[in-house]
Amino acid sequence: MQRRTCFVVGGITGVLILIAIIVTVVVLVVEENTNRNGCTIYPFEVALSPLVVISGTSDFLYPLPGENVLRFDYHQSVDFICPGRNVLLNNVNSNQSVLSGYCLENNTFVINNAHVDWPNMDCSNTFWRTARYTGATCENNGLDIEVGYDTGDNRFLRSMSICFDPELQVAHYTFINQTASINQRALDTPRPSWLQGTGFYDIGSVTNLYVRANQRRTINTLIGLNETSALFIEDDTNYFLARGHQTARSDGYYPAQQNATFFMMNIAPQWQTFNGFNWNQIEIDVRDYAEDNAVDLWVWTGVYGVATLPHQETGEPVELYLFVNSTDNRKALPVPEVYWKVAYNPITERGVALIGVNNPYYQAYTPLCNDISHRLTWLHTKNFDQEQGFCYACTVDTFRRVVTSMPNIPVRGILL
Ligand SMILES: *[C@@H]1O[C@H](CO)[C@@H](O)[C@H](O)[C@H]1NC(C)=O
Ligand SMILES: *[C@@H]1O[C@H](CO)[C@@H](O)[C@H](O)[C@H]1NC(C)=O
Ligand SMILES: *[C@@H]1O[C@H](CO)[C@@H](O)[C@H](O)[C@H]1NC(C)=O
Ligand SMILES: *[C@@H]1O[C@H](CO)[C@@H](O)[C@H](O)[C@H]1NC(C)=O
Ligand SMILES: *[C@@H]1O[C@H](CO)[C@@H](O)[C@H](O)[C@H]1NC(C)=O
Ligand SMILES: *[C@@H]1O[C@H](CO)[C@@H](O)[C@H](O)[C@H]1NC(C)=O
Repeated sequence: MQRRTCFVVGGITGVLILIAIIVTVVVLVVEENTNRNGCTIYPFEVALSPLVVISGTSDFLYPLPGENVLRFDYHQSVDFICPGRNVLLNNVNSNQSVLSGYCLENNTFVINNAHVDWPNMDCSNTFWRTARYTGATCENNGLDIEVGYDTGDNRFLRSMSICFDPELQVAHYTFINQTASINQRALDTPRPSWLQGTGFYDIGSVTNLYVRANQRRTINTLIGLNETSALFIEDDTNYFLARGHQTARSDGYYPAQQNATFFMMNIAPQWQTFNGFNWNQIEIDVRDYAEDNAVDLWVWTGVYGVATLPHQETGEPVELYLFVNSTDNRKALPVPEVYWKVAYNPITERGVALIGVNNPYYQAYTPLCNDISHRLTWLHTKNFDQEQGFCYACTVDTFRRVVTSMPNIPVRGILL
């Protein structure tokens, strides 16, 4: 009996000790887990919130589909970057454009042993955007340009690639990685000024070539019309050649990426009747596809061919350019015949080419490839609208047989 009581007492003590141990472990685990919730931040907290990237990487971070915040693990190392500018912490200039830290919890990070809340991080000025040749070549004698943000520590946050044709002084295409979260992008950021960079153009000021009176004079001269006639390039209507983005401003998630689209190498002469209407709808449709299907897309946007107008005396079609050197007759900066966009899901390898005709004066138009637009339930363009630009869709393979500047990618099917 004695032994048995002892055993029972010993048993109770043992159980209590066990329970105490379990409780302690559970409390520790719970505490640990609370800490391990990590950090959650809204990336556009202030107008010039620093870019936040995982330490040592060069990739823009995006929210998970359906969210509008960025998440970091407890103690995850991150870099806060103000490209070409300085990071401000609690309104104090750190005099550094890159600061390393790690996530503590909520919106608090540890930087140089101090706790700093995300809303108290800022940049000293508008980021310094960069466009530069990479030294690589691309399709059809193009030269590869990368556009984005130089961090100053041997990293480049690439926002867009451009395959630039130095002869015609226009991009064959531009390329972006389109996040599934694109419709959570920053809205209403101020429009930056246009830059033409250095080393890309040899036709003077590109802005000047687009000025309405100048484009009218150039085009009218080509087609034998009085250079001040507003017959084709009108005043106060959408019948003029706008600086048409290839990669749209709204294709950028971060204000920095939106601003990066304002390089002249990203634009081509686009009738505003088309730019602001059917083409705009194609851009919206691709973004909505990414968002609705929660897929990251690869998106190429480019131009092809040269639009024409009839010569006013002979009636012959004349190709239109915004740069003409009357001395050596060099022509550059063509008015493209079409704008195109290839949207591609790299995981399923399904893609589609969307094409729009850039000339409101064409009464009819023969597609470059077999139109399959009726199969794309997600496409909302008005296909047969002359003023807004005829629009259609093709498989990537049939499109590439004509538009050889589109990179050769493996395609298993149509992006439905
Ligand atoms: C940044 O530089 C300014 C001017 O040189 C100096 O006054 C300031 O103390 C520096 N800030 C830090 C955090 O080192
Ligand atoms: C994180 O949020 C919790 C709950 O609001 C709060 O108790 C905790 O103090 C916060 N941590 C920091 C470091 O601010
Ligand atoms: C797209 O993402 C790939 C990595 O998947 C990267 O190598 C490339 O530089 C990115 N390109 C652009 C233009 O963002
Ligand atoms: C984008 O450009 C606008 C207009 O210049 C500027 O106000 C804004 O700060 C820029 N954003 C970034 C992140 O540089
Ligand atoms: C061009 O049109 C303007 C205004 O209608 C007119 O004054 C001018 O004489 C015309 N020039 C030529 C060469 O026909
Ligand atoms: C036009 O061509 C001539 C002869 O090649 C050249 O000297 C001149 O610089 C060119 N003008 C422009 C604006 O490119």
